[in-house]
Amino acid sequence: MKKKFMPLSDYCIYPEAEMKKRALDFYAEMRRRRTVRNFSDQPVDRSIIENCLRAAGTAPSGANQQPWSFIVVSDQAVKRQIREEAEKVEKEFYSKDATKKWVNALKHLGTVPTKPFLENAPYLIAIFSQPYGYSAKGKKTKHYYVTESVGIATGMLITGLHHAGLVSLTYTPVRMRFLNKILARPSNEKAFMILVVGYPSKNALVPAIQKKALDDIAEFV
Ligand SMILES: Cc1cc2nc3c(=O)[nH]c(=O)nc-3n(C[C@H](O)[C@H](O)[C@H](O)COP(=O)(O)O)c2cc1C
Repeated sequence: MKKKFMPLSDYCIYPEAEMKKRALDFYAEMRRRRTVRNFSDQPVDRSIIENCLRAAGTAPSGANQQPWSFIVVSDQAVKRQIREEAEKVEKEFYSKDATKKWVNALKHLGTVPTKPFLENAPYLIAIFSQPYGYSAKGKKTKHYYVTESVGIATGMLITGLHHAGLVSLTYTPVRMRFLNKILARPSNEKAFMILVVGYPSKNALVPAIQKKALDDIAEFV
């Protein structure tokens, strides 16, 4: 591909005092984000989801290959199908797959094999990664740093949804192949996670957990 460059015209420089405020304000906003497992069925305007997805689509990715697809499910029958299949996987997980250690690690979250949020929440965003894609001529092309790239885009999506005033749940049943089938995804796509999106139910509760302090997660050398 021919090299082509342009000026970095969209970059904004702020006075230092403003930068400090922006960083602090952003931290204060992000500190309020929580994973929610009790959703209201209140509808969400589609344009909000579209703009959050546009924001996620600006994420950096290995070689700018953008190895992701976001399938937005609002159809009640499709959501029900996803719930049924996910709950089959969950029942197996809790009765067979999960080691004692794993179940213990989940205990404080109060998670159970039934997943009503898969039907209650207005949107399920099924996120797929693409370990490979196809060139314009239909040739199979390997993608690089796929998991890292899709993880970053998903993080930006979660951030955007929170910024817009919605809540989300990163939901990852141990086996997700059923999503390829239900959503008729092509063979180069691998289910990455389901992001459950909407408003919290009126009396939603979240686990009382703590985040590590700066000194415990970062070092300046
Ligand atoms: C990769 C990933 C997978 C997760 N999978 C699940 C899941 O399957 N079910 C669930 O209830 N929560 C899941 N979570 C949510 C975490 O339990 C939650 O982020 C964590 O407890 C911290 O809570 P917070 O998001 O409110 O800060 C997942 C989170 C991540 C990042």
